Amino acid sequence: MRFLFRPPAVDATGLLSLPWDQPLEEWDPALLLEVPQRGISRHVVRFVANNGHVFALKEINERLARHEYALLGEFEEEGLPTVSALGICVDRPHDQEAILVTRYLEYSMSYRWLFSSPRGEHSAEKLLDTLVELLVRLHLAGVFWGDCSLSNTLFRPDAGALTAYLVDAETVERHPTLSPGQRAYDVDLARERMGAELLDLRFGELLPDDIDPIHIADSLPRRYEALWEEVTHEQVFGVEEQQYRMAERLQRLNDLGFDVGEVELITSPLGARLRVRTRVAEPGQHRRELFRLTGLEVQERQARRLLNDIRTFRASLEQKSGGPVSESFAAHRWLSEVYQPVVDAIPPDLAGRLAPAEVFHEVLEHRWFLSEQAHRDVGTAEAAEAYFATVLPQTPKEVTTPSVAAGLVAEE
Ligand SMILES: Nc1ncnc2c1ncn2[C@@H]1O[C@H](COP(=O)(O)OP(=O)(O)O)[C@@H](O)[C@H]1O
Ligand SMILES: [Mg+2]
Repeated sequence: MRFLFRPPAVDATGLLSLPWDQPLEEWDPALLLEVPQRGISRHVVRFVANNGHVFALKEINERLARHEYALLGEFEEEGLPTVSALGICVDRPHDQEAILVTRYLEYSMSYRWLFSSPRGEHSAEKLLDTLVELLVRLHLAGVFWGDCSLSNTLFRPDAGALTAYLVDAETVERHPTLSPGQRAYDVDLARERMGAELLDLRFGELLPDDIDPIHIADSLPRRYEALWEEVTHEQVFGVEEQQYRMAERLQRLNDLGFDVGEVELITSPLGARLRVRTRVAEPGQHRRELFRLTGLEVQERQARRLLNDIRTFRASLEQKSGGPVSESFAAHRWLSEVYQPVVDAIPPDLAGRLAPAEVFHEVLEHRWFLSEQAHRDVGTAEAAEAYFATVLPQTPKEVTTPSVAAGLVAEE
């Protein structure tokens, strides 16, 4: 047998003792983690925990395993939202297929999980728009997916919204750029698959009655075209309105969750033509800023939310002290006096259901909600307590995270 993996390989060493010579389907269940509510899948896929990390193992033919491993590596380097590949195991005895190992995407949820969640605030439309955004991002990078579907996408809560990640790259083709025909074909495949998946949910009685699977799926091409047009269209305007038009466009792209890589402005006495090259990577400006100030690693929208809270906290410090307070001083105090106490107060049996930054975001939302109801400012501690008692328990625990995985392994 042969193992191929990319450094850092620390993650991989503990995995070597697994029974790679046996068919994945026959592995001792004691070695595996139960991850329910997954999407529709063709191959045998199993999950294992090691050193507090969770990995997904997929049995697949060697050519495809190598293809997927190479592509996922490329995507990760470019900052595209995909799962991260650890390695492959090939040359298994008795001509068995290869096994592709990917890192379990922490705090991710499948569409089936989202629809079966009792909180149910994730509407089909929101899910669809998140998927469309992922597809546009991939197309901008010259990625033809060939199998875009809800099953092949993972969703992560991000400050109340969702971010989508590609999980299955088996059918992906990489091109320098995609033609309109290739894009349209990919979108049409997505429409078909999504329609079938939503129908399947309907038969499983997981879909709310007011959702028409076909109608929703049929709206995908329109939504896709609208977003594609927004992020790629060339704009023409008069010289005198140049500055404000450009600022407006860049702001709009940011609002849609895209970063601008390069701006090309061609001017002539008649006017200006603006061409923007949209960056495919997830925007990361707020993430980086929050990391610099606090060392916290979170998602982009979460970072924006936390930075706003730091700003408010800083203003209140300045008001109290009657003088200026530096940003980094405020951030340190916020971390120890505001953020950390909330995270530390998460009851142990509810830990691991959502990322800590998402819990904090939801506590802030809950504080706002309670304050509205009470017509007074409800404090963060009080809001957190109420949130832990009433809201967080409604988030099912199926979401596998390292802490949950560590717990499961310890129990066995
Ligand atoms: N790295 C991962 N993190 C989280 N879930 C994963 C991961 N890899 C696979 N899955 C889950 O397993 C399912 C099947 O994986 P996929 O790669 O789509 O295999 P198939 O080729 O059988 O469709 C996915 O829909 C997803 O729910
Ligand atoms: Mg799949």
